[in-house]
Amino acid sequence: MTERFRSTSEEKGKTMKITVTKDGPYLVSGGVPLSIEKEICNDDEGYCRNWRVIKTFSVQEQYSLCRCGRSRNMPFCDGTHAKIAFNGIETAGGETYLRHPTVIMGPGLELLDHENLCVHARFCMRAGGIWNLTKQSGIREARETAIEEACNCPSGRLVIRDRASGKEVEPALGKSIAVIENPAKGEHGPLWVRGGIPVVSADGKTYTVRNRLTLCRCGKSGNKPFCDGSHVEH
Ligand code: FES
Repeated sequence: MTERFRSTSEEKGKTMKITVTKDGPYLVSGGVPLSIEKEICNDDEGYCRNWRVIKTFSVQEQYSLCRCGRSRNMPFCDGTHAKIAFNGIETAGGETYLRHPTVIMGPGLELLDHENLCVHARFCMRAGGIWNLTKQSGIREARETAIEEACNCPSGRLVIRDRASGKEVEPALGKSIAVIENPAKGEHGPLWVRGGIPVVSADGKTYTVRNRLTLCRCGKSGNKPFCDGSHVEH
């Protein structure tokens, strides 16, 4: 990439933003790429392993994404939130749960588990589960599987830290939004916001900027604007 093109795309990335509107949709600005993805299971035991792109939309400078879960033009807003008097009050507050994760220590890795952010993507269950794998992270295979599982966690519930360097191990994700669908389970998941796009509340506060986070698009989360897994029927 030439310097000129690199600086142009870096400048563009800086203008990308998602604004939560009061009882309304997410306003996405700055030309954020949008796609629809789904979880796929590709091992014999049915564990989730990879992501597959179903559809990519042409890039728009601005667009509105449904937050109430009732649009007939998903994933975009069609104004239904006003007709149903959607209550989209933001309840995530100061995101205190980010400062108090459950910490699992292993010989090579440390796992930070922010349980409130679970979206039930289920990438963390394979090979005995990421919690056991972390405890066995002195073994190369366990360590690599734990890192892979954490990096596939869309919400950033699971974060792996390398104990030797003290650094978090994060996947390289371009700034973009993916709509998560899981047809095998009949689930319509959240919006997966990737690459550190700022999310701004309706009253102008910027939430913690993270490489991976998921926004509720079903209207049922108890931790709005973030997904808390409530879209999954138990
Ligand atoms: S999309 Fe997961 S709780 Fe709404």
